Amino acid sequence: MPAARFVERLNEQIGHEFAASQQYVAIAAHYDAETLPQLAQAFYAQAVEERNHAMMMVQYLIDADADVRIPGVAAPQAGFGDIVAPVALALEQERRVSDQIAALAGIAREEGDYASEQFMQWFIKEQIEEVASMSALLTVVERSKDVPMEVEQYLARERATGGAADPTAPMAAGGAL
Ligand SMILES: [Fe+2]
Ligand SMILES: [Fe+2]
Repeated sequence: MPAARFVERLNEQIGHEFAASQQYVAIAAHYDAETLPQLAQAFYAQAVEERNHAMMMVQYLIDADADVRIPGVAAPQAGFGDIVAPVALALEQERRVSDQIAALAGIAREEGDYASEQFMQWFIKEQIEEVASMSALLTVVERSKDVPMEVEQYLARERATGGAADPTAPMAAGGAL
């Protein structure tokens, strides 16, 4: 069995991941309404990734025979002043999640719960990538503030080159979307 303190915090983290997912849907809908389809698509896709993170944590708790308690989440921010604000918010959110993930790994280690510590390793790596890519997107979106088509073209090129599935990702409950 994983440490009780770790289980409690991982259940909370499931809520943070779903909250991140909903925030990204809100951002995607905002960009879609502004007719910025590439920015919208990037955040719709990111919303699914966050949902999958939550479901990986659900699967881990099930496999470890620990209680799953899906938390409620607060409403995401919906109104944004310009095209930069949502990405700045997203970067702030990713940095916060990185701290939460590090804290979870720390608790597992303190408790001598090595399986849970190892489970968190994938998320540590994932957060480094997500902070880096959101930080790059913030740079581009700031540069494109007056010419939003520039960030749209950047994202279209990125999509054409990238994104193989990660075979090291933990299993998501019900299968990853
Ligand atoms: Fe996440
Ligand atoms: Fe994320």
